[in-house]
Amino acid sequence: MALLFRSSVDSEARWKPHLARLMPELEVRIWPEIGDPAEIDYALVWRPEPGLLASLPNLKLILSLGAGVDHILIDPHLPGGVPIVRLVDPYMTDAMSEYVILQVLRLHRQDLDYRARQESGIWLELDQKNAAERGVGILGFGELGQDAGRKLKGLGFDVALWGRRPKTVEGLRGYAGTTDFSALLGRSEILVCLLPLTPETEGILNASTFAMLPKGAALINAARGAHLVDEDLLAALASSRLSAAVLDVFHDEPLPAGHPFWRHPRIIVTPHIAAATHPPTAAPIILDNIRRFEAGRPLLNQVDPAQGY
Ligand code: NAP
Ligand code: GLV
Repeated sequence: MALLFRSSVDSEARWKPHLARLMPELEVRIWPEIGDPAEIDYALVWRPEPGLLASLPNLKLILSLGAGVDHILIDPHLPGGVPIVRLVDPYMTDAMSEYVILQVLRLHRQDLDYRARQESGIWLELDQKNAAERGVGILGFGELGQDAGRKLKGLGFDVALWGRRPKTVEGLRGYAGTTDFSALLGRSEILVCLLPLTPETEGILNASTFAMLPKGAALINAARGAHLVDEDLLAALASSRLSAAVLDVFHDEPLPAGHPFWRHPRIIVTPHIAAATHPPTAAPIILDNIRRFEAGRPLLNQVDPAQGY
């Protein structure tokens, strides 16, 4: 049984000890030293080269090294019929919620404004709302959105979530589909994007979306860079339609030197670290799916390529 490991951002050294300890019978082959492609059964990947997966004639299962699968589905040569599973790891879910809570509190408590005043030595109290008076809207009612939503609600925020299909989750207010989009936006002083990147969601954070938010709203994008239209964000900040943005993800990563986001006083940049994959907790989850496949049992977190997530 052989597994191809290919990541454009992660190192095999972080993974091999966990995979070897938990499944010694699995032979891990590191790209590009893959040996005979016909011997590869499984592929554990992050942003594999287009055509790489199609070059493995006996591939049985594609496993994403992350929660998102846009980096796999983008391959024009992706072999049809090979199941794809994504990573759902409670460790990552907690990490994302920590990130979202940190940034929501930062925006809610006007941290950027106080930091700017500190730089100028200005002692000035700003009006402050209570969390219950602050509408937070989360785009994405999935694993990550629900956890962040529950925890923000626990802090007292007025939280609502938006997904594709209507759904009821106890304790969380849900909005769904294009018809509900403007209603969700209209109540969101802080908008958090936790959507998968699909043809429908690409560019969703754009000027017309910003126009439906309350004036002076703030944005947190921890999903994918391609959700955001960069120029529209810069224009919305320049016109004070938006007051601030926190960005963890970008069209090009690393964010190129000289990109206007780096030095913008109303933008906080982090280097795609909101919920990094953690091999000690992720490896058992990934190997569980391989065991399920081998035993003919249902896979966990299988992706629907037609849907894009
Ligand atoms: P998930 O469980 O699959 O949830 C996706 C949610 O998005 C679902 O609620 C889905 O609606 C909704 N959705 C999809 N397409 C939509 C559309 N066209 N309109 C409205 N709602 C739509 O995914 P997840 O585990 O929460 O992860 C979300 C994303 O976070 C990942 O795909 C990845 O891009 C990103 N991520 C980023 C980091 C980071 O470090 N920055 C880390 C992990 C993940 P339904 O409920 O109706 O299906
Ligand atoms: C990270 O961005 C992931 O999709 O897990």
